[in-house]
Amino acid sequence: MSSKARKKPEELRSHRWFGVDDLRSFGHRSRAKQMGYAKEDWAGKPVIAIVNTWNDINPCHSHFKVRVEEVKRGIWQAGGFPMELPAISLSEPFQKPTTMLYRNLLAMETEELLRGYPADGVVLMGGCDKTTPALIMGALSMNLPAIFMPAGPMLRGYWNGTVLGSGSDSWKYWAELRAGNITQEDWEGVEDGIARTPGTCMTMGTAATMMCAAEAMGLTLPGSASIPAADSNHARMATATGRRIVEMVWEDLKPSEIVTEKAIENAIATVVSMGGSTNSVVHLVAMARRAGIPLDLDRFDAISRRTPFLANIRPSGKYIMEDFYYAGGIRALLEELGDGLHRDCMTVNGRTLGDNVAGARIIQDDVIRPRANALSKEGGLAVLRGSLAPDGAVIKHSAADPKFWKHTGPAVVFKDYNDMARRIDDVNLDVTENSVLVLQSAGPKGGPGMPEWGMLPIPQKLLKQGVRDMVRISDARMSGTSYGTCVLHVAPESHVGGPLALVQDGDLIELDVAGRKLNLLVSEDELAKRKAAWTPPKPHYQRGYGAIFQNHITQADKGCDFDILEAGEPTPEPEIH
Ligand code: FES
Ligand code: MG
Repeated sequence: MSSKARKKPEELRSHRWFGVDDLRSFGHRSRAKQMGYAKEDWAGKPVIAIVNTWNDINPCHSHFKVRVEEVKRGIWQAGGFPMELPAISLSEPFQKPTTMLYRNLLAMETEELLRGYPADGVVLMGGCDKTTPALIMGALSMNLPAIFMPAGPMLRGYWNGTVLGSGSDSWKYWAELRAGNITQEDWEGVEDGIARTPGTCMTMGTAATMMCAAEAMGLTLPGSASIPAADSNHARMATATGRRIVEMVWEDLKPSEIVTEKAIENAIATVVSMGGSTNSVVHLVAMARRAGIPLDLDRFDAISRRTPFLANIRPSGKYIMEDFYYAGGIRALLEELGDGLHRDCMTVNGRTLGDNVAGARIIQDDVIRPRANALSKEGGLAVLRGSLAPDGAVIKHSAADPKFWKHTGPAVVFKDYNDMARRIDDVNLDVTENSVLVLQSAGPKGGPGMPEWGMLPIPQKLLKQGVRDMVRISDARMSGTSYGTCVLHVAPESHVGGPLALVQDGDLIELDVAGRKLNLLVSEDELAKRKAAWTPPKPHYQRGYGAIFQNHITQADKGCDFDILEAGEPTPEPEIH
């Protein structure tokens, strides 16, 4: 427990809006009354913002309309005054060109909503991929007491007697359809069965990864991150989250006391123990930098090397998030990680992470493996460096065919996504299973927005020969539900003239996961010549948000935040007059 004195009502931030005796507060009070509230509803109470990322086109958050009422119930119960603030929803399946283009927009919106309105504390409602890091980034910059309410995964998909996993099985059955192994009718059956309830993707995609990372970081109530969205335990968790934030305000328990360097390391260890999404690397770096913590990619590699891979969840493993919950859930996993975590880190409930997971048991030990029977001794992520990626690249080798972990092959280069889409299935494309597919112009600036194009499709003629994996390299990201030998986040990206821009057809590329190497086997002289002949591509945007994005986005190894949003001089509180 914190040793700080409890806040007094006159010390609340919202007191400046509601409590003082002047013309402005008269205005705020009379306008609150206009909404039907009486003095008893707010006087002397913490105002709790609820940043709700619900909208009509985000299937992962479709239960948030109901959940937000459950959060409010908890806030009222505990003597707070709830204030729902809807924010942009980043709906992974629908928003184009990629939700990653808008992560920083939601982060800015979260921060500025909290700054501009009379919030004393905040409940962050998110879960679909980028919403989690975005909400947390904004809350870190504002640094008011904050608690995260994860959307939770959807229940399992089901078709023809088979469990379907989000994302992963779309790619899998799409490849089977293209190879002629399933019918159009089968494919429509998959479409009907793969997403059946509200909630996020239920494989170990970015959503499940980031929700569990948020819990490991101390930002959720214990056990929240693994409760399926459709389970009534999820509704009760929402209400408990509402109750708890009110107390956090009185205790003045802020994100800066929770999201420390050790807490970030806990999140990294958790991610790698789950075979988590490669996207988490970008997001955790961005969150850490918001908290003023420098975080190098090599830290991921070091933690991955010493952390066992325990969660047997697709796409790296066998099960899905619903099974994970029944197997003991996130608390059981964290408990099993033992001293692989910093157990003394503070969490939102005022207790340490170690206290919160103490005694949690693994119920099904094939789903959550005990350390003695780990899926592998090391975590699933590796950071590669070399002449093709001087600032690093990332691979989730746990989801790759081990025969490609050490591989040298000739490049087949696509200059952008459209070039790839046009030529990949061309029967005359000079490609074999040993080729290395290279995609350029898919990074933070080049994509733009670093889209999830990193799992390049296998050329159809190779699919028909039974090939299901190849080495693929890009400056793009890949969905956490994707799999294969995909080297991602190559930095610097090709759009800014990184070595990836200089690769030509036939160049030999060396991948060595164990040695953490990614090299372009072309002489320095030749590369210097190519660099001199390289001309920077035209910017994508001339105006609007796109232009802001383009001018301020940082590279993947720096987290793809806007340089102007990273930690710096504190932004002043608004004047109230
Ligand atoms: Fe929302 Fe996957 S699409 S979590
Ligand atoms: Mg995704």
